[in-house]
Amino acid sequence: MAAHPAWDEDGARLIIADLSHLEGATLPILHALQEEFGYVDPQAVPLIAEVLNLSRADVHGTISFYHDFRTAPPPRHIVKLCRAEACQALGCEALVEDLAREHGIVVDSHDGNRDAVVETVYCLGNCALGPSALVEGELIGRVDADRIAALCGARQ
Ligand code: FES
Repeated sequence: MAAHPAWDEDGARLIIADLSHLEGATLPILHALQEEFGYVDPQAVPLIAEVLNLSRADVHGTISFYHDFRTAPPPRHIVKLCRAEACQALGCEALVEDLAREHGIVVDSHDGNRDAVVETVYCLGNCALGPSALVEGELIGRVDADRIAALCGARQ
């Protein structure tokens, strides 16, 4: 995953100023901020509102209307867990339950500022060795909840 610089108000102001002349500038600005920082920091809202002469509620409304915008930094690690048929037969759904119960990791939840998230995918082409997971390009077979939690860096 590409590394993003930390949120920086001066950098954000430059991006906003650069695009503020556009017709319907809110969306291009939000996309540019997310591209730069990996998310749209809530601190950007008053900056955008001021430059575009909009209310903060307008800017908030646009951010929440489009589900692509993140309002918290993206997780540093993404573990993709296969939940397709063959991996289901090999216990991936029990693994998902164990993860939640024993490690407090809810699959496909992007809530909060977790450093790692577990996302559902459907078939990683490693069906015979399921449940399968993909972590930063590395395919891992026969995973269990402890292994996934360790990959997430969660305390056990
Ligand atoms: S079904 Fe899980 S890797 Fe194919």
